[in-house]
Amino acid sequence: MNEPPAPVTAISTDAVRTWRGLAGTAVLLDGFHALKHAVRFGAQIPVALAGDRAAALRLAEDLAPDLRDPLGALLVEVTDETLRALVPRIHPTGVVALAIRPSRTANLETLARTPRSAPVVMLDNPRNLGNAGAVIRLAAGFGATGVVTTGTLDPWHPTVVRGGAGLHFATAVERLDVADLPPGPLFALDAEGEDIRGLKIPDDAVLAFGSERSGLSGEVRARADHLVSLPMRPQVSSYNLATSVAMALFHWSSASGREFGGMDVRGTDGTDDTELDTDPHV
Ligand SMILES: C[S@@+](CC[C@H](N)C(=O)[O-])C[C@H]1O[C@@H](n2cnc3c(N)ncnc32)[C@H](O)[C@@H]1O
Repeated sequence: MNEPPAPVTAISTDAVRTWRGLAGTAVLLDGFHALKHAVRFGAQIPVALAGDRAAALRLAEDLAPDLRDPLGALLVEVTDETLRALVPRIHPTGVVALAIRPSRTANLETLARTPRSAPVVMLDNPRNLGNAGAVIRLAAGFGATGVVTTGTLDPWHPTVVRGGAGLHFATAVERLDVADLPPGPLFALDAEGEDIRGLKIPDDAVLAFGSERSGLSGEVRARADHLVSLPMRPQVSSYNLATSVAMALFHWSSASGREFGGMDVRGTDGTDDTELDTDPHV
């Protein structure tokens, strides 16, 4: 039997008003998975809506029991009609939220702080929003200090945030000029460089990756302390940008012996946003 529509309460009216006030400036968290990560990594979330609050909380029980209470306090039920008026597309989980973007000043301080215990990933003029999101997710997973981009792509674009699965709040994400890169030795990844397997990537490295179309810019090449390659058979031209970042971060982490403890929620679900697109219970 279908559930009766959510009643319009004073709380849901307030939530919608808050949404409308913030929609132009806040970060859209599209779906349960993005909200889950943003909450875990301390995002400030003034409003979170669900088409079916009870179903969203059952999802929390299943996939993120650590968040049952915080999500219970955050989520406000609204009708599907209301959701449709607020977002271009209702996520299959029926969950959507707005988060406050971390201050650029705070992120720049994080990026500039020394000594550093984990590298900064630098994307030199990336073009593909999905790649940028995947890289932010990788950086969050490996505990990288941050992800900086050069060029015109906005690393906080909604499509990048979606690809990052709400993990922009787990690492410092900013756009910068090459001249303003964080301190630390610059290891630039390029198929013509020195084999990474013979190198130790230090914790304070800046790991630079070139554009999908044209590779590393002349400016980054000129600044690089090391040009580093990932092992690749002859006749293969290059790897995808995000997979290159994954290999380089894995190489750094395996040599650094870094522990990934600290949060006891790692691996409680193992879903990803594309899975949740088709089945919220996978
Ligand atoms: C799709 S590739 C760029 C291909 C581009 N046509 C070029 O000329 O370099 C994107 C980035 O991934 C990294 N990358 C891809 N394959 C690599 C490899 N075998 N070794 C090191 N870096 C690689 C580089 O940073 C490269 O700029």
